[in-house]
Amino acid sequence: MGDNGWTHRSACYVLPVREILSAIEERLDTPTSRGLAEAVERAIRDGALAPGTRLPPIRTVATELVLSPTTVSAGWSLLLRAGVIHTDGRRGTTVAVPSPGGRYREALRHRAESDVDLSAGVPDPALLPGLRPALDALTVAGTTDSYADEPVLPELAAVLRADWPYPDGELAMVDGAMDGIELLARTTLRFGDRVVLEHPTFPSLIDLLTSLGIEPIGVRVDERGMNPAELARAMRQPVAAVFLQPRVHNPTGISMTPDRTAELANILEHHTAYIVEDDSAGVVTDLAPRSLGSWIPRRTIHVRSFAKSHGPDLRLAAISAPRELARELFGRRRLGQGSSSPVLQRILYGLLTDPGAVEQTARARAEYARRRRALAEALAAQDIHITGTHGLNVWVPVRDESAAVAHLVRLGIAVAPGSLFEVSAGSRPHIRVTAGLVAADHTGLAARIAEAARR
Ligand SMILES: Cc1ncc(COP(=O)(O)O)c(C=O)c1O
Repeated sequence: MGDNGWTHRSACYVLPVREILSAIEERLDTPTSRGLAEAVERAIRDGALAPGTRLPPIRTVATELVLSPTTVSAGWSLLLRAGVIHTDGRRGTTVAVPSPGGRYREALRHRAESDVDLSAGVPDPALLPGLRPALDALTVAGTTDSYADEPVLPELAAVLRADWPYPDGELAMVDGAMDGIELLARTTLRFGDRVVLEHPTFPSLIDLLTSLGIEPIGVRVDERGMNPAELARAMRQPVAAVFLQPRVHNPTGISMTPDRTAELANILEHHTAYIVEDDSAGVVTDLAPRSLGSWIPRRTIHVRSFAKSHGPDLRLAAISAPRELARELFGRRRLGQGSSSPVLQRILYGLLTDPGAVEQTARARAEYARRRRALAEALAAQDIHITGTHGLNVWVPVRDESAAVAHLVRLGIAVAPGSLFEVSAGSRPHIRVTAGLVAADHTGLAARIAEAARR
């Protein structure tokens, strides 16, 4: 496995150098490092350069394509960072073989082998609202004609607007937060773009962006949100988008405070970057929704997932975007799958309005808060102090990540290694433990985690 979810096949394809150079040259629009990286990436995507193809040395590429060796070297660096190519000492540079699931999914593949799986950040099925009343309210499934072009059912849009953190923006439903974020990334970002991410952040976001050849810049989060001084520093170079989790950040459980929101808005309003907000915990928390959209509505995209609160299998999230961008995003979506299933949207509408389902969601909220508090207190008794106040996960500092994960695996407990969440290297090691799945014996679990943390 490579750093970016790409695996590197040992076999090399030796294509004639002339053929490789022609494939790149035909796609070379601008003679810059980025232009070159884009050309190689396009040649791979078009199938002209197969995974495993060995690329000619930098000097050959530079001479034949009339570029400076520095430009070629910088282009290769962009491709290396994106995991599109791979350099392997004497064997040279080859086109990497993509691993389709990304680093995060790959890393969690074996979790089912543990007795207790606290690695995946998923909700407790026992705390999800029952579907029966919402299903009973459905009559037939085949009424999409009237709604075929609507990005969201009107009655669902009305419920969402009542609780949306800012009034502007066009609403749509997508098939989960990552579906919306992928749509946005593919529509607005280009290979080689720089984007700011919270450090740490949700690993699938890192996987998605690096797989598209986008360069993530990590900005640390503290107890109040993204660090403003670091953000201002990162914004000194061109940044295409800033991704943040305003409420119940995964993995730390912190939420952006109102004063921090204002500080970040002050910095970002002088730039052109899109602001992409991922409210993944949604209504699984009792904290009010928050957004930079009140300050910068023309560039803010806000995504709220219903996976944690109403069930991952509904695969639904709501997204709002400024009008112009919304037209582009939702227009593009119409060319493919169209809209998210209106049947599922009607079920979600039922779950958001049926008094019994609303009551169940409120009970789940209280129970998740109790479970997280209980584990945090039990860890504090072991002298382990965690950040954040809400959400399904706790972010536990450890002495050595691999040793901690391995120790817990031996005890039959799967947790997520913290390095998966890291955008930049050099932070203190952590593990992420899904406290939301732990109903009892928090003291026993905390003792095991503390043992692992000291290894
Ligand atoms: C921060 C963050 N974003 C996105 C997701 C994925 O959400 P969805 O299942 O709606 O795609 C998660 C799920 O854990 C998450 O924690």
